[in-house]
Amino acid sequence: MDSKAPHPQAGPLIRPHNFIDGRWTPGHDGQGFAVTDPATGLLIAEVPDSGPQDARAAVDAAAKALPLWRARLPRERAALLRRWHALILEREEDLAALISLEQGKPMAEARGEVAYGASYVAWFADEANRIYGDIIPDQQRGKRMTAIKEPIGVVAAITPWNFPLAMIARKIAPALAAGCTVVAKPAEDTPLTALALALLGQEAGFPNGVLNMVTASRARAAETVDAWLQDGRVRKISFTGSTPVGKHLARESAATLKKLSLELGGNAPFLVFEDAQLEAAVDGVMAAKFRNGGQTCVCPNRVYVQSTVYDRFARLLRDKVAALRVGPGSDPATHVGPMINARAVDKIARHVDDARRHGATVLAGGKRLEALGPNYYAPTVLGDANASMALCAEETFGPVVPLFRFDDEAQAVAAANDTPFGLAAYFYSQDLRRIERVSRALESGIVGINEGALASEAAPFGGIKESGYGREGSRYGLDDYLSIKYLCQGGLA
Ligand code: SIN
Repeated sequence: MDSKAPHPQAGPLIRPHNFIDGRWTPGHDGQGFAVTDPATGLLIAEVPDSGPQDARAAVDAAAKALPLWRARLPRERAALLRRWHALILEREEDLAALISLEQGKPMAEARGEVAYGASYVAWFADEANRIYGDIIPDQQRGKRMTAIKEPIGVVAAITPWNFPLAMIARKIAPALAAGCTVVAKPAEDTPLTALALALLGQEAGFPNGVLNMVTASRARAAETVDAWLQDGRVRKISFTGSTPVGKHLARESAATLKKLSLELGGNAPFLVFEDAQLEAAVDGVMAAKFRNGGQTCVCPNRVYVQSTVYDRFARLLRDKVAALRVGPGSDPATHVGPMINARAVDKIARHVDDARRHGATVLAGGKRLEALGPNYYAPTVLGDANASMALCAEETFGPVVPLFRFDDEAQAVAAANDTPFGLAAYFYSQDLRRIERVSRALESGIVGINEGALASEAAPFGGIKESGYGREGSRYGLDDYLSIKYLCQGGLA
């Protein structure tokens, strides 16, 4: 097939331009880059390869729109968010097809992502009306002290490719609810879903400049984002992605002291104690690990199983993993789609090869699936994993479950915490006292207890240690977009 021909699955929501001040525009210097289908390598669209001029134009628009947007009543902002939410749900099938096309996840999961992303929009539409301040009890006669909350200003949202809709929706929705305006840069692998969301925002009636989006290739992303880092009008950065990039943003935004929310890498441990219901624990690993083919920050990277139940657990898990079907996201029979790109597959293969060299046994998978295409890797279970393996220290971000043995609780908790990261952790146990002890001992922003599916718009999502700071979702998710102003009024006696 001619690689320049329109992709046979390209749908109606594709808008391959920047969205700045309510207008769809090419990049300032006319350059573009290709967005391709990870299942086939076919071109889907070319989008602008933006640079600093585009980034600044987006901030100009957001800064101009800010005074009127923040002056709107919270319920007026909420009404627009609700309209956006309704349009997202109305276009569920088109959005899901676009997510699956550019990111590779199976259609059923892509539909789930549309609902998941939309749930943040509905949640923060409601939260807009709950931005309360405080009346501070009188400290002196004739003096009234109050604390009010105000939008922080222009927000830059920088998002990853693994959830092209949900990650950007859960930044834009609280920002707009709080009265901030937004400049956003979606990941270079998956910009089309984000642009489709901007299109639906335009249809919903967001005023010009309230939401702006620019796209940039991997090569130009740094200069585009650096323009925001240096711009004093950008008061907050919300970033989901790797820890090294998060540290760069923290360093470089120091000159203008921006507020930061950083949702960074993880290295999630999953502990299975001998008193766990083993079938439930296996289901928990399956749900947590194979969501998006293991390409999530919260998916278990290290599974520790108590020695007394290790062999039975390994057998149960191996049988389930071996039954997973791998294929393109568009095939309804697919459980695990392609990985996002060749670099991702190379990293997975490197981890598995390194684990083998350090004594791991392959219980399932353990190989590339080249007959399907260059971006496919077989769902894999590795037995006899140990701490000398690269996959113990680094996030694999793929469908690989390494099994480690442990003998007692103290050893398991120490191993789980032996990482600079602290985003998610999981454990399975039926012992109430152990549940209490281990929940508190795990160094992690999120803990799944006898549960593998943690994501919810109503829950605070975020990490500790080098997994970052700030929370997304829940009633805490708005705080990151607000600043507190103290008003002290005298002469009232
Ligand atoms: C992530 O991978 O960063 C997010 C996953 C989620 O929302 O559950």
